[in-house]
Amino acid sequence: MMRIDIISAVPELLQGPLDHSIVGRARKSGKVEIAVHDLRAYSTDKHGKVDDYPFGGGAGLVMTPQPVFDCIGSLKQEREYREIIFPTPDALLLDQPTVNKLSLHDNIIILCGHYKGIDQRIRDELVTLEISIGDYVLSGGELPAMVLVDSMVRLLPGVLGDAESALDDSFQDGMLSPPVYTRPASFRGLSVPETLTSGNHERIRLWREEKALERTREVRPDLYRNFINKK
Ligand code: ADE
Repeated sequence: MMRIDIISAVPELLQGPLDHSIVGRARKSGKVEIAVHDLRAYSTDKHGKVDDYPFGGGAGLVMTPQPVFDCIGSLKQEREYREIIFPTPDALLLDQPTVNKLSLHDNIIILCGHYKGIDQRIRDELVTLEISIGDYVLSGGELPAMVLVDSMVRLLPGVLGDAESALDDSFQDGMLSPPVYTRPASFRGLSVPETLTSGNHERIRLWREEKALERTREVRPDLYRNFINKK
Protein backbone atom coordinates (compact mmCIF):
# COMPACT_ATOMS: atom_id res chain seq x y z
CA MET A 1 0.00 0.00 0.00
CA MET A 2 1.18 3.52 -0.66
CA ARG A 3 2.22 5.45 2.41
CA ILE A 4 2.75 9.19 2.39
CA ASP A 5 4.40 11.04 5.29
CA ILE A 6 3.90 14.78 5.23
CA ILE A 7 6.12 17.02 7.34
CA SER A 8 4.84 20.51 8.08
CA ALA A 9 5.27 23.32 10.57
CA VAL A 10 1.59 24.21 10.01
CA PRO A 11 -0.14 20.79 9.99
CA GLU A 12 -3.55 22.44 10.51
CA LEU A 13 -3.40 23.54 6.88
CA LEU A 14 -3.49 19.93 5.74
CA GLN A 15 -6.49 18.62 7.64
CA GLY A 16 -9.40 19.60 5.39
CA PRO A 17 -8.08 18.26 2.09
CA LEU A 18 -6.85 15.02 3.65
CA ASP A 19 -10.09 14.19 5.45
CA HIS A 20 -12.71 14.61 2.75
CA SER A 21 -13.78 13.65 -0.74
CA ILE A 22 -11.69 11.19 -2.74
CA VAL A 23 -8.53 11.40 -0.60
CA GLY A 24 -10.51 11.12 2.65
CA ARG A 25 -12.42 8.08 1.36
CA ALA A 26 -9.23 6.43 0.08
CA ARG A 27 -7.69 6.75 3.54
CA LYS A 28 -10.77 5.42 5.32
CA SER A 29 -10.98 2.40 3.04
CA GLY A 30 -7.28 1.63 3.51
CA LYS A 31 -6.15 2.33 -0.08
CA VAL A 32 -3.54 4.81 1.12
CA GLU A 33 -1.95 5.60 4.45
CA ILE A 34 -1.18 9.27 5.08
CA ALA A 35 0.53 10.51 8.24
CA VAL A 36 1.12 14.16 9.10
CA HIS A 37 4.09 15.13 11.26
CA ASP A 38 4.32 18.43 13.11
CA LEU A 39 7.85 19.70 12.49
CA ARG A 40 7.78 21.75 15.71
CA ALA A 41 7.56 18.57 17.75
CA TYR A 42 11.05 17.68 16.50
CA SER A 43 12.68 20.99 17.38
CA THR A 44 15.15 20.90 20.25
CA ASP A 45 14.42 24.60 20.82
CA LYS A 46 12.25 25.10 23.89
CA HIS A 47 9.77 27.22 21.94
CA GLY A 48 9.62 24.76 19.07
CA LYS A 49 11.35 27.17 16.68
CA VAL A 50 11.93 25.76 13.20
CA ASP A 51 13.27 28.78 11.30
CA ASP A 52 15.88 31.51 11.58
CA TYR A 53 17.36 34.53 9.79
CA PRO A 54 19.33 33.86 6.61
CA PHE A 55 23.13 34.10 6.78
CA GLY A 56 24.27 37.03 4.68
CA GLY A 57 21.03 38.92 5.26
CA GLY A 58 17.85 39.21 3.24
CA ALA A 59 14.13 39.14 3.84
CA GLY A 60 12.22 36.26 5.37
CA LEU A 61 13.07 33.30 7.52
CA VAL A 62 14.73 30.06 6.51
CA MET A 63 13.85 26.64 7.87
CA THR A 64 16.63 25.29 10.08
CA PRO A 65 18.20 21.87 9.47
CA GLN A 66 17.93 20.32 12.96
CA PRO A 67 14.17 19.59 13.17
CA VAL A 68 14.02 18.37 9.56
CA PHE A 69 17.07 16.07 9.90
CA ASP A 70 15.66 14.65 13.14
CA CYS A 71 12.16 14.14 11.79
CA ILE A 72 13.25 12.50 8.53
CA GLY A 73 15.88 10.50 10.43
CA SER A 74 13.27 9.02 12.71
CA LEU A 75 10.91 8.24 9.79
CA LYS A 76 13.74 6.50 7.92
CA GLN A 77 14.24 4.21 10.91
CA GLU A 78 10.68 2.93 10.43
CA ARG A 79 10.85 2.20 6.68
CA GLU A 80 12.67 2.90 3.46
CA TYR A 81 11.48 5.80 1.32
CA ARG A 82 11.44 5.86 -2.46
CA GLU A 83 11.34 9.63 -2.69
CA ILE A 84 11.67 12.62 -0.38
CA ILE A 85 9.87 15.39 -2.19
CA PHE A 86 10.30 19.09 -1.54
CA PRO A 87 7.68 21.33 -3.19
CA THR A 88 9.37 24.55 -4.26
CA PRO A 89 8.81 27.08 -7.06
CA ASP A 90 12.45 26.79 -8.22
CA ALA A 91 12.08 23.26 -9.57
CA LEU A 92 10.75 21.22 -12.48
CA LEU A 93 7.04 21.65 -13.18
CA LEU A 94 4.69 18.87 -12.09
CA ASP A 95 2.82 17.18 -14.94
CA GLN A 96 0.63 14.12 -15.43
CA PRO A 97 3.44 11.74 -16.50
CA THR A 98 5.36 12.65 -13.30
CA VAL A 99 2.23 12.08 -11.19
CA ASN A 100 1.65 8.71 -12.88
CA LYS A 101 5.19 7.64 -12.06
CA LEU A 102 5.01 8.83 -8.45
CA SER A 103 1.72 7.04 -7.86
CA LEU A 104 3.53 3.72 -8.40
CA HIS A 105 5.87 4.29 -5.46
CA ASP A 106 5.22 2.83 -2.04
CA ASN A 107 6.69 5.15 0.60
CA ILE A 108 7.03 8.87 0.00
CA ILE A 109 7.88 11.80 2.23
CA ILE A 110 6.69 15.29 1.35
CA LEU A 111 8.52 18.06 3.16
CA CYS A 112 6.60 21.35 3.30
CA GLY A 113 8.82 24.41 3.59
CA HIS A 114 8.54 28.14 3.80
CA TYR A 115 8.51 29.75 0.43
CA LYS A 116 11.58 31.82 1.42
CA GLY A 117 13.36 28.56 1.61
CA ILE A 118 14.88 25.85 3.67
CA ASP A 119 18.54 25.53 4.57
CA GLN A 120 20.32 24.26 1.44
CA ARG A 121 21.89 21.41 3.42
CA ILE A 122 18.43 19.84 3.75
CA ARG A 123 18.04 19.92 -0.01
CA ASP A 124 21.55 18.60 -0.62
CA GLU A 125 21.45 15.77 1.90
CA LEU A 126 17.84 14.65 2.28
CA VAL A 127 15.60 15.76 -0.57
CA THR A 128 15.54 13.43 -3.61
CA LEU A 129 12.99 15.25 -5.77
CA GLU A 130 12.01 18.91 -6.05
CA ILE A 131 8.71 19.79 -7.67
CA SER A 132 6.99 23.05 -8.57
CA ILE A 133 3.23 23.12 -9.16
CA GLY A 134 3.39 26.28 -11.28
CA ASP A 135 5.21 29.49 -12.08
CA TYR A 136 3.84 31.51 -9.19
CA VAL A 137 4.74 31.75 -5.52
CA LEU A 138 2.74 30.35 -2.62
CA SER A 139 3.42 31.02 1.05
CA GLY A 140 4.44 27.48 1.87
CA GLY A 141 4.64 23.92 0.64
CA GLU A 142 1.37 22.75 2.21
CA LEU A 143 -0.95 23.55 -0.69
CA PRO A 144 1.45 22.09 -3.28
CA ALA A 145 1.73 18.99 -1.04
CA MET A 146 -2.05 18.63 -1.17
CA VAL A 147 -1.97 19.00 -4.95
CA LEU A 148 0.60 16.21 -5.14
CA VAL A 149 -1.30 13.94 -2.76
CA ASP A 150 -4.63 14.41 -4.53
CA SER A 151 -3.15 13.84 -7.98
CA MET A 152 -1.37 10.65 -6.87
CA VAL A 153 -4.10 9.14 -4.69
CA ARG A 154 -6.80 9.33 -7.38
CA LEU A 155 -4.65 7.02 -9.52
CA LEU A 156 -4.29 4.28 -6.89
CA PRO A 157 -6.11 1.03 -7.66
CA GLY A 158 -9.71 1.02 -6.42
CA VAL A 159 -9.78 4.69 -5.42
CA LEU A 160 -11.93 5.83 -8.32
CA GLY A 161 -14.92 3.80 -9.49
CA ASP A 162 -15.13 2.73 -13.15
CA ALA A 163 -17.52 5.60 -13.78
CA GLU A 164 -14.91 8.17 -12.72
CA SER A 165 -11.92 6.41 -14.26
CA ALA A 166 -8.77 8.49 -14.29
CA LEU A 167 -8.01 7.31 -17.82
CA ASP A 168 -10.49 9.92 -19.07
CA ASP A 169 -8.73 12.75 -17.26
CA SER A 170 -7.39 15.71 -19.13
CA PHE A 171 -3.65 15.19 -19.84
CA GLN A 172 -3.75 11.37 -19.65
CA ASP A 173 -3.60 11.33 -23.45
CA GLY A 174 -1.81 14.68 -23.65
CA MET A 175 -5.06 16.49 -24.43
CA LEU A 176 -7.63 18.49 -22.48
CA SER A 177 -11.01 16.89 -21.79
CA PRO A 178 -14.10 17.55 -23.94
CA PRO A 179 -17.12 19.36 -22.41
CA VAL A 180 -19.56 17.29 -20.35
CA TYR A 181 -23.30 17.72 -19.75
CA THR A 182 -25.86 16.18 -17.40
CA ARG A 183 -29.64 16.31 -16.97
CA PRO A 184 -31.84 18.10 -17.81
CA ALA A 185 -31.37 17.90 -21.58
CA SER A 186 -32.84 21.37 -21.83
CA PHE A 187 -32.22 24.01 -19.15
CA ARG A 188 -33.52 27.59 -19.46
CA GLY A 189 -33.63 27.15 -23.19
CA LEU A 190 -30.05 25.85 -23.32
CA SER A 191 -29.92 22.39 -24.79
CA VAL A 192 -27.34 19.64 -24.70
CA PRO A 193 -25.57 18.90 -28.02
CA GLU A 194 -27.81 16.47 -29.91
CA THR A 195 -25.00 13.93 -30.48
CA LEU A 196 -24.69 13.22 -26.75
CA THR A 197 -28.34 12.20 -26.46
CA SER A 198 -28.32 10.23 -29.73
CA GLY A 199 -27.28 6.91 -28.15
CA ASN A 200 -24.82 6.41 -31.04
CA HIS A 201 -21.57 5.51 -29.29
CA GLU A 202 -19.33 5.90 -32.32
CA ARG A 203 -20.74 9.37 -33.07
CA ILE A 204 -20.31 10.32 -29.41
CA ARG A 205 -16.70 9.10 -29.40
CA LEU A 206 -15.90 11.13 -32.52
CA TRP A 207 -17.66 14.22 -31.13
CA ARG A 208 -15.64 14.02 -27.91
CA GLU A 209 -12.40 13.58 -29.80
CA GLU A 210 -13.17 16.59 -31.99
CA LYS A 211 -14.14 18.80 -29.03
CA ALA A 212 -11.04 17.75 -27.08
CA LEU A 213 -8.85 18.68 -30.04
CA GLU A 214 -10.67 22.00 -30.48
CA ARG A 215 -10.38 22.92 -26.82
CA THR A 216 -6.71 21.95 -26.64
CA ARG A 217 -5.84 23.88 -29.81
CA GLU A 218 -7.54 27.02 -28.46
CA VAL A 219 -6.45 26.96 -24.84
CA ARG A 220 -3.15 25.07 -24.93
CA PRO A 221 -1.50 25.34 -28.34
CA ASP A 222 1.71 23.97 -26.76
CA LEU A 223 -0.03 20.67 -25.87
CA TYR A 224 -1.76 20.59 -29.23
CA ARG A 225 1.51 20.87 -31.15
CA ASN A 226 3.03 18.06 -29.06
CA PHE A 227 0.04 15.85 -29.67
CA ILE A 228 0.01 16.40 -33.43
CA ASN A 229 3.78 15.86 -33.69
CA LYS A 230 3.59 12.57 -31.80
CA LYS A 231 0.91 11.16 -34.11
N1 ADE B 1 6.10 26.62 -2.67
C1 ADE B 1 5.80 27.89 -2.90
N2 ADE B 1 5.37 28.08 -4.14
C2 ADE B 1 5.39 26.86 -4.74
C3 ADE B 1 5.08 26.39 -6.03
N3 ADE B 1 4.64 27.20 -7.00
N4 ADE B 1 5.23 25.08 -6.28
C4 ADE B 1 5.68 24.25 -5.32
N5 ADE B 1 6.01 24.64 -4.09
C5 ADE B 1 5.87 25.94 -3.79
